[in-house]
Amino acid sequence: MRIVTAITGASGATYGVRFVARAAELGAEIDLVVSSAGQRVAVDELGGRIDPESGPLSELLGEDAARVRTVPAADIGAEAASGSVPIDGMAIVPCTMGTVGRIATGIASNLIERAADVALKERRTLVVVPRETPLHRIHLVNLTALVDAGAIVLPAMPGFYSGPTTVERLVDGVVDRALSFFFGPEVIRDRWNPRGRGGDR
Ligand SMILES: Cc1cc2nc3c(=O)[nH]c(=O)nc-3n(C[C@H](O)[C@H](O)[C@H](O)COP(=O)(O)O)c2cc1C
Repeated sequence: MRIVTAITGASGATYGVRFVARAAELGAEIDLVVSSAGQRVAVDELGGRIDPESGPLSELLGEDAARVRTVPAADIGAEAASGSVPIDGMAIVPCTMGTVGRIATGIASNLIERAADVALKERRTLVVVPRETPLHRIHLVNLTALVDAGAIVLPAMPGFYSGPTTVERLVDGVVDRALSFFFGPEVIRDRWNPRGRGGDR
């Protein structure tokens, strides 16, 4: 499984790094692309830049760092920019309204937007995890355009029904939902359990 993963400059950088770490743990190879705003927000929210070899992502990855290849967002000639390269799909976690708008209108001005364009035209899985509130009409129209083109729009809206007791578990609830579109619903750790709270862990 090869997944292009983009982290853009929406609040919730933790969603992105936890998605990458868990996808690598599940055996995926990751082409990681972080926008410059994504790096800036990561410094604010996580205390460091997103890098598989150092800082907050590397602490989560451990030896799985070897599964993550960082690709500059400006590298429009990277493999993820071409539909001819065998890539299974893409996730944008978290996704800004700016990136949503550019993808929705076909503006492929960096590798993130181009790779999303490729995922849509090749009919591959594209999971977009937007984070903004409140949403105005342009946001909603652009998100609808992504759904119409085949993307899965999975807002960073954690569920509380499994009784999460830590921020990490809340975040992982969203992360696992996003991963389930690549690996199947078995990867969802906190499921609804009618007999009691807490799912599998
Ligand atoms: C601390 C911080 C938090 C932000 N949070 C959001 C957000 O939640 N959603 C959003 O759409 N933009 C957010 N932004 C604005 C984007 O980072 C900005 O529009 C940027 O140009 C997006 O670029 P990108 O889509 O290439 O990452 C935030 C910016 C900062 C500095």
